[in-house]
Amino acid sequence: MSPGGEGARETRSLSSGTAGGGTAMSRPARGLGAAPGQDRGRGLGEGFGVTERTDGWWVEPLLQGLMLLVMGAYATWAAFQGNHYEFGGYLSPFYSPLLKPSWWPFSPALLVLGAPLGFRGTCYYYRKAYYRAFFADPVACAVGEPRGSGYQGESSFPFVLQNLHRYLIYLAIPILFFLWVDIVKGFIFDGRFGIGIGSLVLLASNSLLTMYTFSCHSIRHLLGGRSDCFSCLAAGGPRFKVWQTSSWLNSHHMAWAWWSLFAVCSADLYVRLCSWGVIQDLRLM
Ligand code: FES
Repeated sequence: MSPGGEGARETRSLSSGTAGGGTAMSRPARGLGAAPGQDRGRGLGEGFGVTERTDGWWVEPLLQGLMLLVMGAYATWAAFQGNHYEFGGYLSPFYSPLLKPSWWPFSPALLVLGAPLGFRGTCYYYRKAYYRAFFADPVACAVGEPRGSGYQGESSFPFVLQNLHRYLIYLAIPILFFLWVDIVKGFIFDGRFGIGIGSLVLLASNSLLTMYTFSCHSIRHLLGGRSDCFSCLAAGGPRFKVWQTSSWLNSHHMAWAWWSLFAVCSADLYVRLCSWGVIQDLRLM
């Protein structure tokens, strides 16, 4: 179920049956080097948590689950709070673009957060993280999982809806554009250009958000995933370079995912603390 490449690498290293150069006859019955299908991917069909792994495989899903809970809880509170999301030209990224129709009685964030939330929630990386942390499915490579025999993975409802991710990118990019417009407003003080700590906090947050968005697997696919031969295409050279850049961004997608989540929550918190009067926004220019 985990779509991440890391899991695949981990599985290969644990199951490379030809590592010793031996034949199937000389392979051990269990553990590293065991024949495929005999002991490969140990964990499949085993009881929950049963594994031959001796490393701390449970640390990563535990930490990631905790971080997702903390930041998810903060983001939910911030989105529903509906106040203190502005300070001068600063606007919390959870509320951008700011829409305040008179007929809407709830927090303005609830009008705009659907697309970014859907985009992040269906992200290939986050799927891996929360499947492991919250569903233990699988909890880690080569570790027994608690699922029953009727499991259909992402081929049936509701998880088949995860495939909407490739379309949600078309909503995430326009939202990113509006976010940048609001970032520019954060550099304007009394009608003139200026820089405050808040300007830089919001700039950092949106830069990381941009890296996260453009490192998406769907973007990489759009840029080059459907082409087998760049030199056969019109403008193949530039397209190849763009695809290479996208591939580099994509190889760090996990890092962009965490840093951008942390940065967006921090930016929202900074604006709130200024708005509440808890801290003073320092003007650098
Ligand atoms: Fe993570 Fe698309 S795969 S944002």
